[in-house]
Amino acid sequence: MPMKCITEAQITAGSKILVRCDLDVPLESGKILDPFRLKASLPTLNYIKEHGAMPVIVGHIGRPHGVEPELSTAVLTSFYDEQLGVGSYVLLENVRFDYREKEADISFAKELVERSGASSYVNDAFGVSHRSDTSIITIPKVLTSYAGISLINEVTNLDRVIKSPKRPLVAVIGGAKLETKKPLVKKFVEFADYVLIGGRIGLEWDTYVPSNLYLPSDYSDNQKFDIGIKTAETYVNILNRASTVVWAGPMGKFEEERYALGTNVIAQTISKSSAFSVVGGGDTIHALTKNGMLGSFTFVSAGGGALLDYLVFGNLPGLKVLGHKG
Ligand code: 3PG
Repeated sequence: MPMKCITEAQITAGSKILVRCDLDVPLESGKILDPFRLKASLPTLNYIKEHGAMPVIVGHIGRPHGVEPELSTAVLTSFYDEQLGVGSYVLLENVRFDYREKEADISFAKELVERSGASSYVNDAFGVSHRSDTSIITIPKVLTSYAGISLINEVTNLDRVIKSPKRPLVAVIGGAKLETKKPLVKKFVEFADYVLIGGRIGLEWDTYVPSNLYLPSDYSDNQKFDIGIKTAETYVNILNRASTVVWAGPMGKFEEERYALGTNVIAQTISKSSAFSVVGGGDTIHALTKNGMLGSFTFVSAGGGALLDYLVFGNLPGLKVLGHKG
C-alpha cells in the first residue's frame, strides 16, 4: 500500500492526532535562530485543527543524554502559540529525554500513544525519517498512520530529481564531511550529467575522477577556504545549461564573508535559472538564509542526513513503515 497522506484520512472532530514534527531547530540562549523546520509542518497542523481535531506534537531537539532542560520543547511554545493559537495544540516534551526513543521500543511507543490520547499518527518529520527511532518507526506499528503534507511534499520533489529528472541534471555537492557525502557523490556520478564539488570534500576527494565529476581547479585563498574565480566560472557555465539542479553543501567557509563568494555565486546562478532546483542541508540553508536567496529555489528540503539518504537510496525507514516503496 502506498503512503497515505493525512488529507486522505477521515478526521473525527474532537479527536487527537499525534504528529511527529521536525523540532530540531538551531537555538541560542533559549531563542529559535531559524524556524524553517517548524514552519514546514504548519500546513499539517492547521489541516488537523481545521477539521476539528487537536494536534499533539511530538519531536526531539538535539541529542540529549537524559533530561537536559535547555533542550526542552518548552522553548518552542511561543512559536506554536503564535502560529496555531494557545490551547489549540498539545506539545509533548523532547522525546529523546527518554533513552527508549532510540531503541524502537514497542512499550515506549504504546506509552506515547496513551499519553497523547491520540487515535491516529502522522509523520511530518522528513528530517528524522532516516532514523529508526520509536516515534518514527514503532508508533506506526501500533496506531493507524499517515504521512504529513510536508513529508509528501519532500518525497514528491526529491523524486523529481532521482526518478526521471529533466536533463541535464547537475548535482552540486560541497560541505565538510567526505565520509557522509561519498555515497551521494558516487550515486550522482552514475546518475547525473555533471557533479560539481566544492568545500572541504573537494580537497579530500582523492579517488577516481570520472569525466562528469568536477573538482575545484583553483581556490580564492592559500588556505583553500573557498573555490576560486576559474572554478566558479566553470560551474556557472554548467549550471546555466541545467534543467534540474540538486545542491547540498556550501562551496566554502561562507560564515566568513571573505570566503562566501563561491557559495553566493552558485546560489545566484541557480536562483536565476529556470531549472527545477532542490536544495537542502543545514549549512546550505543557513548560507541561503544569510544572503536572502532561499525563496528563489523550487524546493527547499528540511532534511540534512535524511536528504542525503533519500537521494542515495530513494527510501527511508520512516517512510517504508508508512508503505513508501521508493
Ligand atoms: C537532523 O538534524 O538532521 C535531524 O534532527 C536528525 O538528528 P540526529 O542526527 O541527531 O538524529
